[in-house]
Amino acid sequence: MGVIKDMLGSGETLFRDPIPLDYDYIPKLVPYRESQQRQISLCIRPLLEGRNGRNMFIHGAPGVGKTVVCKHLLKALEEEDIEEAENIVPIYINCWQKNTFYKIVLGICEMIGYRFTHNKKSDELFKIVKENLNKKSVVFVLDEVDKLEEQDFIYNVLEEIYKKTVILITNYKEWIVNLDQRIKSRLTAELMEFKPYNKQETFGVLKDRLQYAFVPGAWDDDAFNLAAEKTYDMGDIRAGLYLLKESGNAAEDASSKKINAEHVSKAIGKLEEFSIKKKESLEDDTKFILEIIKNHSGNKIGDIFKEYQNEGGKAVYKTFQRKVNKLAEDRFITVKKIMGGAEGTTTIVKHAGSMKKITDF
Ligand SMILES: Nc1ncnc2c1ncn2[C@@H]1O[C@H](COP(=O)(O)OP(=O)(O)OP(=O)(O)O)[C@@H](O)[C@H]1O
Ligand SMILES: [Mg+2]
Repeated sequence: MGVIKDMLGSGETLFRDPIPLDYDYIPKLVPYRESQQRQISLCIRPLLEGRNGRNMFIHGAPGVGKTVVCKHLLKALEEEDIEEAENIVPIYINCWQKNTFYKIVLGICEMIGYRFTHNKKSDELFKIVKENLNKKSVVFVLDEVDKLEEQDFIYNVLEEIYKKTVILITNYKEWIVNLDQRIKSRLTAELMEFKPYNKQETFGVLKDRLQYAFVPGAWDDDAFNLAAEKTYDMGDIRAGLYLLKESGNAAEDASSKKINAEHVSKAIGKLEEFSIKKKESLEDDTKFILEIIKNHSGNKIGDIFKEYQNEGGKAVYKTFQRKVNKLAEDRFITVKKIMGGAEGTTTIVKHAGSMKKITDF
């Protein structure tokens, strides 16, 4: 009898609303990041008073809330109904998707509703964007800024947009050191680090999202603790959201009314499939390269490049190599230099999904 009672009926679900588990969902509040939000607001505040804003450089590990805090602020600006805020244009750019001057400017044209972009060059488009934006103030958020192929967009904004706050976000603190000197001297950005959440904060963030996403009572305490503990170990809230969702799916697959520790363990077993970054956020050619690496994992970089060309890849070897290194930096793949042999040094490229699990050793 108990068994039937604990079974999920057909058509029943444990999810009240799965959307709060999406990585790009913006929650109403972003707890534990109040001081960062305050500091960013202070940089934007001069814009409300018709003056130039201050710039920021934000860095920190993956999944610690950098993007969500900035998007949350931009959204708040948009929804603010004081007149001063209406004169501020919020512009969010993911530099992974828009990694060149042209792509960014085209994206902004779209945002401001300018449609006659066909056959226009970057410079012409920037002129239009500039004239439009200089009627107001602008908050630019350049997320994953280290993925830019060229830095002239930043330079042009610093030079030609009068009233703005420029917020640059990256995982790599060192990136700013290598920034073009002309940009660095004009940027004078305040530095801000997002540290990983402590245990209590990690539990708090996940509990919050869980309450919106699941029906009340769906989670056993033990199960939740296991998922939150694992998330804390990984230091990445995104991994936690993945675990919550996959645990829920595992419970539903077993027609269980409760999510228990066993379902969470199943989800933890699948973590390997979870790439720290969302694959969809990769730019097309990089996605294509990743796919080829996946199918030819363990081969030499030169052979993978040949395969890439065979399948229609257009980039030259140098660009290809740079993209491969970026993929490694973001832990989608691993690259290993092998010394010696007939060809001297070569690099072996492996897809992260084909790496050994800890349990394989
Ligand atoms: N304080 C918080 N409250 C609620 N959700 C949060 C909080 N911090 C992070 N999250 C959620 O965790 C996920 C990862 O956060 P976010 O995308 O902001 O990470 P990030 O620091 O930008 O990471 P990356 O460097 O990989 O881009 C998002 O779904 C986000 O909504
Ligand atoms: Mg981010």
